[in-house]
Amino acid sequence: MTVLTVLEVPNILLSQTADDVVDFDDSLNDFVTDLFDTMHAYKGIGLAAPQVGVLKRLFVCEYDNNCLVCINPTLEVYGDELESEEGCLSIPNILATVTRYSGVNVSAYDINGDLFTQSFDGMMAVVIQHENDHLNGVLITHDSLKTRYHSG
Ligand code: NI
Repeated sequence: MTVLTVLEVPNILLSQTADDVVDFDDSLNDFVTDLFDTMHAYKGIGLAAPQVGVLKRLFVCEYDNNCLVCINPTLEVYGDELESEEGCLSIPNILATVTRYSGVNVSAYDINGDLFTQSFDGMMAVVIQHENDHLNGVLITHDSLKTRYHSG
């Protein structure tokens, strides 16, 4: 089991746009395993590659019985706007209320390089939007999310 170090603000890597994953090989497989191990060790429900300093477009999340790996994802949001109170492993001790959508349709590659499309609502939809933002260097403290902060 490998627990990677989760980067915290301020760190320039957290505000970069990540690059597409190109090679679906053993090292990608190992990295995804490390991401899950790290997310579990930090007791998170989602973790994106840039948070461990790897500027690639992938994230993992796990909530209830949903366990998801999204590689090179594209998101289409739908439904109602909602106010979501969120924390982030990269921003300790801060909670922010950000604007999300109630549903999200995800198209992404899985670990085998196969494209899938799946819809989520509830908490998974919110986690997916949060993690996908990390791939674009957007944190919960970003202006675009109409954030209100409070200390957690
Ligand atoms: Ni986060």
